[in-house]
Amino acid sequence: MSESRPPASPRRHLLSVADLDRRDVERMLDTAQSLAGSLDREVKKLPTLRGRTVVNLFYESSTRTLASFELAAKRLSADTMSLRSAGSSVDKGESLKDTALTLAAYEPDVIVVRHPSIGAPQLVARLTDAHVVNAGDGKHQHPTQALLDLHTMRQALGRVDGVHVAIVGDILHSRVARSLVQALGLVGAHATVVGPPTLVPRGIESLGCDVSYEVDAIAGADVIYVLRMQQERMSEAFVPSLREYTALYGITPERVRKGQVVMHPGPMNRGVEIDPRVADSPAALVTDQVRAGLVVRMAVLYDVLTVAPVPDHVRARAVA
Ligand code: NCD
Repeated sequence: MSESRPPASPRRHLLSVADLDRRDVERMLDTAQSLAGSLDREVKKLPTLRGRTVVNLFYESSTRTLASFELAAKRLSADTMSLRSAGSSVDKGESLKDTALTLAAYEPDVIVVRHPSIGAPQLVARLTDAHVVNAGDGKHQHPTQALLDLHTMRQALGRVDGVHVAIVGDILHSRVARSLVQALGLVGAHATVVGPPTLVPRGIESLGCDVSYEVDAIAGADVIYVLRMQQERMSEAFVPSLREYTALYGITPERVRKGQVVMHPGPMNRGVEIDPRVADSPAALVTDQVRAGLVVRMAVLYDVLTVAPVPDHVRARAVA
């Protein structure tokens, strides 16, 4: 990018829940809800993003997130392509910077990034003229997951305001937990994180949640949100054994109270953090979450491309 180029017009990204305020979240959830209506029709495609290009750049494995971003772009009539690190020139040692600059040469409107390093989506946003959406960066943030979880709760419970969510499991390695705690705070809901002391990061309360090391703390929640043991991010043993973890924190039918709903971002390790009888019970909203992923990612693509950014000084005034 040459120095002489005039400054690009401000672009909206979705990099972190911390960049959003309550109105942003509610606007995207409302858009998702109205888009859900369009998916009930026989012809599911909308012309909204015709002529736009969405590139998915995925440096980590993904099933739900990649599939739903791809389908979301297609349902809005955008052109879309996905590049996974395996099988691309990333395999040959091409850096994120060079890969981003290469893709930018095709002038995509949106680049969706998943990467094991914290801050990778910010780097792509700096290097290219595209709107960037974070699809998960290391253990930092996964904002679209938080939005789809709020959408799922709103559909299932009829509200998000005042809802109490117990997030159980490997909080330490979870970008889902960090994003969700912040998003719940924005909409007037409340989170308690629950897990063994080795898997609950010190200071997480500063994000606006309570902490408990006892599984009994889930009893008072409306939603039990179960997290996977993310062994690919563990460099040492954080629990004596998976069997012991399951005995102490596994979500079994005995631990789910009548009226509670159970969520899990996937992929589930059945028999480890969640008992198959819970995963397959009517209380489980896991499939609803997957379905929500499509409409919420449609709403996010629409939002970053069409809603004008609010300058920081105006936003600061509105918040004050
Ligand atoms: C999560 C992720 O990748 O952070 N999965 C997802 O996006 N559906 C959670 C996980 O991997 O456990």
